[in-house]
Amino acid sequence: MAVKLDGAALASNIKAQIREETAALARPPMLAVVLAGEDPASQIYVRGKERDCAECGIRTRTHRLPAEVSQADLLALVDSLNRDEDVDGVLVQLPLPEGLDARPILHALAPEKDVDCFHPLNAGLLALGEPRFLPCTPAGVLELLDAYEIPIRGRHCVVIGRSRLVGRPLAQLLTARDGTVTLCHSKTRDLPNLTRQADILISAVGQPGLVTAEMVKPGAAVIDVAMNRGADGKLTGDADFPAVEPVAGFLTPVPGGVGPMTRACLLQNVLRAARLRRGILC
Ligand code: GUN
Repeated sequence: MAVKLDGAALASNIKAQIREETAALARPPMLAVVLAGEDPASQIYVRGKERDCAECGIRTRTHRLPAEVSQADLLALVDSLNRDEDVDGVLVQLPLPEGLDARPILHALAPEKDVDCFHPLNAGLLALGEPRFLPCTPAGVLELLDAYEIPIRGRHCVVIGRSRLVGRPLAQLLTARDGTVTLCHSKTRDLPNLTRQADILISAVGQPGLVTAEMVKPGAAVIDVAMNRGADGKLTGDADFPAVEPVAGFLTPVPGGVGPMTRACLLQNVLRAARLRRGILC
């Protein structure tokens, strides 16, 4: 039976540590959040981030904008947050409402305040192996593996999903840690043949039931990044949890696995941004 990777408990420890570290700063860090439109999931995510920050002694200022906000007004807001001395981190909640183009907005973020690691400069530094910020979900996955002493060096890591937010940066981070990485996607042929070779199997697709027991090598660590909401309102990952649990060596629950770690890593980035801006870190 797989050991359950308890992201909720680990995130709680990380948050306690962040609380101590923010208390030691002369001025608490400040995260500015930009939330445009009424997307219900985004509203919930942003409230969660505000709550997490409050718990950790991080101030937040959320700019709620109507869905009809213009691209120019959104850019002007980002520009003013970039120049605001009191703001350490800026997070533009995605997806943006229809009609707005996220790319120019994310490119306009000041790289030193880009706590999501979305700006091309930060993505480039990460690709070069010199990250300034770590993207939150990939960083959360690595912290989870490290906490349970699951080695990466020399192991075959199979990542399913090549998104800019998760799959691609995760493949880069695992490579930097000396993992042997196979990055799979929707055009990959004979996926089960590859996943069965994985010591560490990470799925970030958003397709319930994608990872079956037959696709998992006995004893492998299975990390399920997906959060799919079923017709019954329940959250599930990509893995068929009851079927995979007896085969895997380690398995993340959904919810309570990677999700809380992503949130904790955002807080780490806000603290890091505050320290970098204040010359406490270089
Ligand atoms: N929407 C869904 N996930 C994220 C995230 O990690 N950051 C931002 N800014 N928006 C999101």
